[in-house]
Amino acid sequence: MHRLYIETVGCQMNVLDSELVVAALRQRGYELTEDPKQADTLLFNTCSVRENAEHKTYSSVGRFKYGKRKKPDLVIGVIGCMAQKDQERIFEKAPHVDLIVGTGQLAEIPDLVEKVRATRKKQVAVSLARKEGSWAEVAGSFESYDPLRDPTMRPSPWQAFVRIMFGCDKFCTYCVVPSTRGPEQSRSPREIAREVELLAAQGVREITLLGQTVNSYKYSEDGQQHRLSDLIARIHDTPGIDRIKFVTSFPKDMTTDLLEAIRDLPKCSRYLHVPLQHGCDEQLKRMKRGYTLADYREMMQRIHNILPGCAVSSDFIVGFCGETEEGFQKSIAAIREFRFKNSFIFKYSPRPGTKAYELFVDDVPEEVKRRRNNELLAVQNEISEEDNAEFIGRRVEVLVEGPSKRSRISSSDRSEPERDFASTLRDTDPSPVASLPGWHQGAELPSPDVAPEQAGPETLVSLDLGTRPSGMARSPSSPLLSTTGETSLSAMNSQTVHDGTPIQLMGRTLCDRIVVFQGTPRLAGTLAEIEVDDVTPTTLLGRMVTHRVEPRSHGLLPILTEHPGSA
Ligand code: 5AD
Ligand code: SF4
Repeated sequence: MHRLYIETVGCQMNVLDSELVVAALRQRGYELTEDPKQADTLLFNTCSVRENAEHKTYSSVGRFKYGKRKKPDLVIGVIGCMAQKDQERIFEKAPHVDLIVGTGQLAEIPDLVEKVRATRKKQVAVSLARKEGSWAEVAGSFESYDPLRDPTMRPSPWQAFVRIMFGCDKFCTYCVVPSTRGPEQSRSPREIAREVELLAAQGVREITLLGQTVNSYKYSEDGQQHRLSDLIARIHDTPGIDRIKFVTSFPKDMTTDLLEAIRDLPKCSRYLHVPLQHGCDEQLKRMKRGYTLADYREMMQRIHNILPGCAVSSDFIVGFCGETEEGFQKSIAAIREFRFKNSFIFKYSPRPGTKAYELFVDDVPEEVKRRRNNELLAVQNEISEEDNAEFIGRRVEVLVEGPSKRSRISSSDRSEPERDFASTLRDTDPSPVASLPGWHQGAELPSPDVAPEQAGPETLVSLDLGTRPSGMARSPSSPLLSTTGETSLSAMNSQTVHDGTPIQLMGRTLCDRIVVFQGTPRLAGTLAEIEVDDVTPTTLLGRMVTHRVEPRSHGLLPILTEHPGSA
């Protein structure tokens, strides 16, 4: 029996890739372990969006240099974006690595791991670089990797990512993604619809459609051009699916037909992640984003006209080449004007191979980047808290995802390696709050949107390996809930929960707002109505009023995801 240990850094696309790689290796008889010392195969799924992410990977891989000397049979692989970008150069920096597999070759991993083990020869599988062939040749060298998944291999039984497109052709000047993920390619709607049906049959209730620029989706099939609006209409009525989300959207492709489809399809999340990146036209032009602030404003007006109450979040880069203090102030003004639900804010990191790296000087000093980052975060927090405060006294419906971060950290059965991961997680639920009432007064950890060094694509992600608080079932084949239909637990609180120890749970509203409340872990995967008592910039704090229980819900921890991706 082989044992696999995998570390994942990066966006939701990487989380999905790791899930699929784990599934493929499990089918070959591998067992997943969270203790690298127990493993004979170590894989590092990597991110190249910023330099910091690459440093983290090299230091993680470096930890196993001496272990490999003691255990020469160990197979160590670097996979994903860094593998595609740096290829054999990784062997120079980390000679103990055996395997390098790019984002477009992930299907090869099981065979390549076996080949390394059989021959002890290093293996490399990467796609063509963007300049190594025509668009079609390069596109052909990036293979879509979306095998059907076994439900036991999905970290959360009721939530699943579905890739609808991969790659990117936008070529923003700061960004490596068009190189690391290759040309933009959409998957067939027929294939996607089939995948969604299968996932629904396995108990999935919430689907998140993934793409680097997900709303640029287009596919010609049966003599017809399919857009994202057509695709969501097609999957909307899949029995069992309650919610449909998609990330990450590109501002220029936020078409009216898509907004109208979201308006008309009630299962679509009223939440859009549409990164603005900067509030100054000069910077947007240097970034080659293809829109001006006025264009973005027009898009926001359309969003609010067609979808009143829709939450919008953004990404910003501070300290990009040539950013003046005056230019930076325009990003602050943009956050104040557009009142994003939250923003992910990044200090510019020059990336070799990008246009900005070639053409512009990285002329904003690190301490200025840091200061601007913190200033922007402070403004965003102020806005988020004000907007969240509007929810006090209101009832919201949430899909319960599982224990909150506080519950998970305080659970006693965690092993050391997972704790290491958890400490670097940008979790969905940021607030370790004191018990009700007045939980708002509890000391707070840096939130996802206010932890500049933690939030973002390079953050380490923990795949759920089965370490759960007591009371949580492990296997999806043993559903915890047997009740059907609508159950009303009037003014339910922790004391009235009949089974399982009450803990702090987290869930999300249809607008993607994080809500924490007390309840039994068995509620994970169900819809619950929560009355909001208090708020922080990132979280609504409340009490459960009712919950709806479905028989196919299971008590597993959700996957812990990162930044949504790029656009
Ligand atoms: N430096 C800093 N941030 C970057 N991003 C992409 N490339 C860079 C870079 N070179 C940010 C963008 C993007 C998010 C995924 O990462 O804001 O939306
Ligand atoms: Fe593509 Fe987004 Fe990167 Fe721009 S920032 S190149 S849209 S992945």
